Amino acid sequence: MYQILYPAVATGALILFTSLMLGRFFSKSWDPKGKHCYVTGGSSGLGLATAKLLVSKGAHVSIVSRDAQRLENAMKELETVRTSPSQILRSYSYDLVTATGAREALDAVCEPYEGKNPDAIFMLAGSCHPRFFIEETEETMIHQMNQTYWVQAWTALEASKRMVRDKSKGKIIFHSAYIGYITLVGYAAYGPGRMALRALADTLRQEFLLYDIDVHIAFPGTMYTPGYDIENATKPKITLKIEETDPGVTGDQYAKGLLRGVQKGDFHISPDLLGNIFRASMRGVAPSGNFVVDSLWNFIGWVGLPIWRMTVDSTVKGHKKEHEEYLTSKGFLYNNGYLA
Ligand SMILES: *[C@@H]1O[C@H](CO)[C@@H](O)[C@H](O)[C@H]1NC(C)=O
Ligand SMILES: *[C@@H]1O[C@H](CO)[C@@H](O)[C@H](O)[C@H]1NC(C)=O
Repeated sequence: MYQILYPAVATGALILFTSLMLGRFFSKSWDPKGKHCYVTGGSSGLGLATAKLLVSKGAHVSIVSRDAQRLENAMKELETVRTSPSQILRSYSYDLVTATGAREALDAVCEPYEGKNPDAIFMLAGSCHPRFFIEETEETMIHQMNQTYWVQAWTALEASKRMVRDKSKGKIIFHSAYIGYITLVGYAAYGPGRMALRALADTLRQEFLLYDIDVHIAFPGTMYTPGYDIENATKPKITLKIEETDPGVTGDQYAKGLLRGVQKGDFHISPDLLGNIFRASMRGVAPSGNFVVDSLWNFIGWVGLPIWRMTVDSTVKGHKKEHEEYLTSKGFLYNNGYLA
């Protein structure tokens, strides 16, 4: 009886294998050479690492950030990796947290190209300031939303309007984080913006099928960049402790994974183990990668994530006493804490 199954299984396996191989050989990879790539946050960290990688692959690169001094230093680094004298490398100082800033920056960036839109827009500006929720204020909450969501949403809005108007096809690459998939104590003001980006990218992937504009979104974990030190400065001890197990990567390492994902045409880009597990268990209706491999990640997540959550929950509970001391030392708790 079961013998009937063997040919079916063998045929299935053959089809699967062939499709994987054909997919590998015939899917054409996007080549940044000669393309105009616009990198926001390109003066340091992941932005600079990505800009350098693109320059080293022969792209024309425009970087934007606020700090003129940092831009100048970044330009020197970009010049060292150029592969041809004809590559156009430019930097511009704009604050991208408003729609006006995003529009003006794009106008300036497109100017040397007779107003033509960039071929790819890497949105890597932003910052992270973890805290306990009760320590947040109206200002810090809004600041985090500016730095996680709006700084990318405005550039995406302005760039896609231009792309559609000019009928120029392009790539729009968002940059979220693990926290765009999962939640963690300390990221109450940061996480919502990262998840909002996922909602935006997922929606735009579908809407932009109307125009053949490609949308990508990346989900890195701990990354050792200048931004990490800023983030570390306000990071609660408990968050540091839980994150101890994430070995982290450098900006250069992540930039390579990011670009590989963009070149392969991946929609959700998570080039590391944890990112893949989170992605496979959280992707919703977003397109998946390789069905077999993603099913494996999904299975690992199905078994592992509840265990991980229980461990984290018990670490948080174990932190109660220390947290109370912390709040007391900050003058947050009256009467020297609950116990007094
Ligand atoms: C957030 O961005 C808006 C502009 O969109 C700006 O007016 C506001 O000052 C920013 N707030 C903070 C706290 O960064
Ligand atoms: C982050 O800050 C903590 C103190 O809050 C410190 O112990 C740790 O070494 C810092 N980590 C890095 C990588 O700078």
